[in-house]
Amino acid sequence: MSDSAVGPLELSTDEMRALGHQVVDLLVDHFAGIHDEPVGRKAARQELQELLGGRIPEEPSDPGELFRSLKEQLFTNILHIDHPRFFAFVPSPNNFVSVMADALAAGFNVFTGTWFAGSAPAQVELTVIEWLRQICGLPEGAGGLLVSGGSMANLTGLAVARHEQLGDDLDGAVAYISDQCHSSVARALRVLGLPGDRVRFVGATDGYRMSTDALRQQIAADRSAGLHPFCVVANAGSTNTGAVDRLREIADLCRAEDMWLHIDGAYGAPAILTDRGRALLDGLELADSLSLDPHKWLFQSLEAGCLLVRDRSLLLRTFQVMPEYLRDTHGISDEINFGNYGVQLTRSFRALKLWLSFRTFGLANFRKAIERGIEIAEIAERELRASADWEVVTSAALAVVTFRYIAPGLAPEDIDRLQGRIVEAMLADGYAIASSTVLNARPVLRFCTINPRTSDDEIRETIRRMGEMGRSLAGG
Ligand SMILES: Cc1ncc(COP(=O)(O)O)c(C=O)c1O
Repeated sequence: MSDSAVGPLELSTDEMRALGHQVVDLLVDHFAGIHDEPVGRKAARQELQELLGGRIPEEPSDPGELFRSLKEQLFTNILHIDHPRFFAFVPSPNNFVSVMADALAAGFNVFTGTWFAGSAPAQVELTVIEWLRQICGLPEGAGGLLVSGGSMANLTGLAVARHEQLGDDLDGAVAYISDQCHSSVARALRVLGLPGDRVRFVGATDGYRMSTDALRQQIAADRSAGLHPFCVVANAGSTNTGAVDRLREIADLCRAEDMWLHIDGAYGAPAILTDRGRALLDGLELADSLSLDPHKWLFQSLEAGCLLVRDRSLLLRTFQVMPEYLRDTHGISDEINFGNYGVQLTRSFRALKLWLSFRTFGLANFRKAIERGIEIAEIAERELRASADWEVVTSAALAVVTFRYIAPGLAPEDIDRLQGRIVEAMLADGYAIASSTVLNARPVLRFCTINPRTSDDEIRETIRRMGEMGRSLAGG
């Protein structure tokens, strides 16, 4: 650090500018060169301990040097979830505007818990929430807030369900969730105090969609046993296969049974912006609460999740607490205090990145980008079906396709093992990454192709390499 620094934790103006330019160059190089880079790597604990561990330093270091070392030491030792060949789990193909917006939100250290301290940011969040409400087709009067991600959105939505349906009294309460629900749903119910034996995992009929008949029967059985069914969680794009539950049918059942419908559209809901997605997501607008993750298919940097609630006043009813030290922030009814809409009081300015991204690119480009993701999965499916190496297990749905490597000579258990070993081989290769999951008690491979930057050649080359890996691992 130079002598011109004025305080113990400050840099000179020149140093700040130099560091800022260095960071922007690093990011622009990352965005511009990503197709030529490996998808990333997973390093061993020992290696990273040596590289990144050590004692807390008493003396300062040159920040330029420190930041220069990051690419080598840190950013090469991650899997790039924004990479066009990252097909595992649910990618986060963020856009550059959202990155810059996050830099500004951090730089101005914007507080968005109260209108008193952050009136303009609260208005931006209101605007973004209103846009998302309209996109998802919820009625006027619906509202919500931005949270860290889908897990927090599910927790927040289910906390409202518990408060409204049960008055927070869990005695005899039962929740019904698709057996394809993301793990964050069961975790949220556990955190909210619902005993595990009062979470019913409802199985699928066709295509991994929750069986409405089974759901109806289970609710009836529980009512007969004197229990209190209060909530159903349905999927609008399951993580495993992209399946969308019969939302309209389930909503009708919930209305008839006076139960809350929470829809988890964390990754799938934004597909409603496309014609095909809208058809698949019929009934999304009937949710009492809906999770969606802008850091997935709305191309934002981590972290950006969203919860929408059909009647936004219920958020306040669930979460508002007024301590004496926040008395200056209350009293004017049209001033929205997002700190009272959820768990967090101190909240970062997540809305800025979405607001700027929508305004920079326009909704039409978001539509195209989402449509492209749907198309890539279809290209993958065609490629897989054209090869004798592969069996397609579930067809491309909302940019997810699942498949298995088939090796006719091998025992079924060996073929099962092979699927996970192909993922390991991909990790070692570094060109692309898929993940595996289990469907119908069988391991399968899975692509999630929501990154619009993936080229046709990249998905084809990924499948070609995976075929080679399969053959080599099968000993062929
Ligand atoms: C359907 C679904 N719900 C919830 C989540 C959890 O979201 P997050 O990881 O943002 O907390 C995911 C993550 O992939 C998801 O796919």
